[in-house]
Amino acid sequence: VAAGPLAGRHVIVTSGPTHEPIDPVRYIANRSSGAQGTAVAAGLRDLGARVTFVTGPATVPPPPGVQVVRVETAAEMRAAVERALPADAAVMAAAVADWRVTSASDRKIKKDGSGRPPALEMAENPDILAWISRAEARPPLVVGFAAETDDVLANATTKRLRKGCDWIVANDVSPATGVMGGTENSVILVTDRGAEPWPQLPKDEVGRRLAARIADHLGHEAGR
Ligand code: C5P
Repeated sequence: VAAGPLAGRHVIVTSGPTHEPIDPVRYIANRSSGAQGTAVAAGLRDLGARVTFVTGPATVPPPPGVQVVRVETAAEMRAAVERALPADAAVMAAAVADWRVTSASDRKIKKDGSGRPPALEMAENPDILAWISRAEARPPLVVGFAAETDDVLANATTKRLRKGCDWIVANDVSPATGVMGGTENSVILVTDRGAEPWPQLPKDEVGRRLAARIADHLGHEAGR
């Protein structure tokens, strides 16, 4: 049995990109490595939590000591999160593709000789963070991420309210920051009490600090 401030607690973490198939050999994806989600999951595990780690096809391996659920698409990720409920907290660190290809083909799409590329029809994916924030089985603490390239704080503050989550971990992913695919992260934690900028830290340390804040929060809730 795990010891630590999160012993007996269940936390769901989503991580990595999603892949949205175009045909059996092609997909739409994004540059998420899964590094930050992996670090959060490891931080929670180290504090004794039981972690369900729902991950898309990430480039970094999942942490040991967590229950890994591998998914490919946003729809699969949402279903896996739903199956993992109930939970004491959910941290949605995945870079979920905003759109899926509704015209996906079950055979490889070929050039037809006309010189015209195929037209892809797309539809919006389910927003897992917004859904879980308003779900009947909503975890008491729901944390989202906001990767922004402009107006980081303003966008994160609006996003927190729009999605209905408790906290947003906002980060600047402008190419010059090297955050996307890099080892460091510079985040602002946005809660109902306002915005708290953290110093630039290795992603592992951001994961540890976020896990500690979650433990702190759930500890206070329990004591009320
Ligand atoms: O709207 P945006 O994609 O910037 O929001 C980012 C936050 O929402 C992240 O926490 C991400 O994991 C979550 N999200 C989600 N499902 C989506 C899109 C985003 O859970 N379809």
